[in-house]
Order: sequence, then structure tokens, then C-alpha cells
Amino acid sequence: MFKIGTNLEIAEDMLRQGGLVAIPTETVYGLAANALDVNAVLRIFEAKSRPLFDPLIIHTDTPAKVRNWVSEFPAWADILAEAFWPGPLTLLLPRKNTIPDLVTSGLPQVAVRIPRHPLTLELLSRLDFPLAAPSANPFGYVSPTRPDHVAAQLYDQVDYILDGGSCEVGLESTIVGMEGSKIVIYRLGGLALEEIEGKVGKVEVKEGFAAEPLAPGMLKSHYAPRKKVIFGEAANWHASSNPALVSAAVISFQKRYPRPEAYQRVLSPTGNLNEAAFNLFSALRELDETDAECIVTEMFPDTFLGKAINERLKRASSAG
Ligand code: TXA
Ligand code: MG
Repeated sequence: MFKIGTNLEIAEDMLRQGGLVAIPTETVYGLAANALDVNAVLRIFEAKSRPLFDPLIIHTDTPAKVRNWVSEFPAWADILAEAFWPGPLTLLLPRKNTIPDLVTSGLPQVAVRIPRHPLTLELLSRLDFPLAAPSANPFGYVSPTRPDHVAAQLYDQVDYILDGGSCEVGLESTIVGMEGSKIVIYRLGGLALEEIEGKVGKVEVKEGFAAEPLAPGMLKSHYAPRKKVIFGEAANWHASSNPALVSAAVISFQKRYPRPEAYQRVLSPTGNLNEAAFNLFSALRELDETDAECIVTEMFPDTFLGKAINERLKRASSAG
């Protein structure tokens, strides 16, 4: 049997048997298992070498099913779900006890999302259980946006990779919850802050929370390639002819620098932030495979998906 393909029957069988299936979503590939099967969920943590205190998002295909797993669905959540599901939005809501503690790391809320990818939506519609799925990468590494990214790192750990092509958005979902009477963004992502505020008014952005739910500070380095990332310095380095530049790879938004092609990725020559987001993680992976000493990046415009791109690069730059 081929491990990579578009066969929904195989994916469904594997999941019913407690297996691990990499699933395409519009954001990044997920490493999915039956969220109600504790042994299957444990396999996710093992495959990723992920600490048990870092909880998982559950995925399903209809708001009606979401209501089986959450105990409250407040009005603000309804407005966002109505506007943006299926899509790159994760809601943090009070959980029902139908969700195992392992999935939420014992926290009182569960993260839920309806992803927007036709193959995965079809798969979810056949299942009477939700899928727990973190991004399908070893813990701390860059998320995969193509099936070959998953295969390169987790081929032996997964039972099947459902091939849905390249992820349309390319950044993980935006995570939204509530604290007291305030709507809070816990992780900037593929749904822009401006879009959310357009529906529910001003929200607070809590940077750094979602990746470190129980251990503030511990997981500052995240979304990181193996190479050192130097955030926001590409233009300065070129202007100053920094000697370290010789051995550095460069990630820029629109501008091409006087650098060898192999060491350079321009994410959107036309200046489109969606296109830049789509290309970001592939670029980080590709440059990580070169013999460059480090990866120096521009700072992106701080609006729409540029905000999330900057946040990911900042996190990647905290490594090592
Ligand atoms: O786009 C996405 O969100 C992708 C696709 C596969 O859906 N998933 C994803 O999952 O990025 P993951 O596990 O790589 O990141 C989810 C983040 C983690 O930082 C986790 O700590 C946080 O969400 N999270 C999950 N459940 C939570 C909970 N109950 N309370 C607080 N934080 C939670
Ligand atoms: Mg992840």
C-alpha cells in the first residue's frame, strides 16, 4: 500500500482503527487521530515528541457537531463561526467532559475548528468523532504546508498521508477565546486580526500564550528551522555590507537582494501578503536545507497576514 494518496477510505479506516493520518487543511497539514481514543491521541504526542502539557485542537465539519464537544457557544463565537467557518479560525470554548483530558492537557477549555479543505471536510463528514490534530511536524519545527514536508519528517510515524496538495493559506489558524468580558486572540494566524475586529470589534492580542499554555516562557522558540533566524535585519545587513552576510540566506517580501539565487527567497514580488504567507514555511524549510550559516529576514508590513508572518519569524528567531 502506498502511504501517500487521496484515498478517503484508507484514511477513514486508519482513523477508525486508532491510526495516525496526516490531513490537509487550508492552513497547514495536521497529524490527526480520533480525539476520543486516548491511545490514538497518545500516539500523536509520541510521533511529534510533543510534551503532554501542550493541548491539541479538535477538528470537525459542522457547528452542530462542535456543540457535542463544547458546553457553551457564546454569541461572539457564533458570529465568528458564522463568518469564518470553514476557515483558519480556532475557537477556545468551555469543554464538555466528552473530550478526554489528554486532548486539552486537563485545561477547562477545548480548541475547536472547522477546516476549509474539500478532502478533509469530506473525511470529517464520514466520522462520528472529532479529529485531534496538531501541525504535522516534529515539536518546535516549522509547520508543513505540503505532503512532502510531512513525509520528509514523519513518514515512519504516520499510517497514511492524505494528499491535498499545497495548503492555500500557509499559516496556522488564528486562535480566539475570551477572558472575562474581553475577546482575546491567543495566536495570530491565517485569519487576519482586522477581519475578526470587523465582526466583533476591538480584541486584545495576547502574543505568546497559545504555544505555552501551562509553562509561560518555556516554548518561546517555536515554528523554528534548525538554522539561526535573524529577524528584520535583511535590509540593514545589505546596507552595511555585514561580513556575516556572505554565508547568510535571505527571506524578503518583494525585494530581490544582490545574493545568489539559492540563498534567497522573495515571498511575493507583487507585494501580496497572502502570497507571502503561502510561501513562508516552504521557504524556511528550503533554506534550512542549504549550507547557509543563518537565515536573515525582512520585517513584513505589520497589517493583515503580515502581522502573523512577523510573529512566526520572531518566534523562529528566539531559537538557539
Ligand atoms: O491551523 C491550525 O491550527 C493547525 C491545523 C492542523 O488545524 N493546527 C495547529 O495545531 O497549528 P498546533 O497543535 O500545532 O497548535 C495549536 C496551538 C498550540 O499552541 C496549543 O498550545 C494551543 O493551540 N491550544 C490547543 N488547545 C488549547 C487549549 N485547550 N487551551 C489553550 N491552548 C490550546
Ligand atoms: Mg504546531
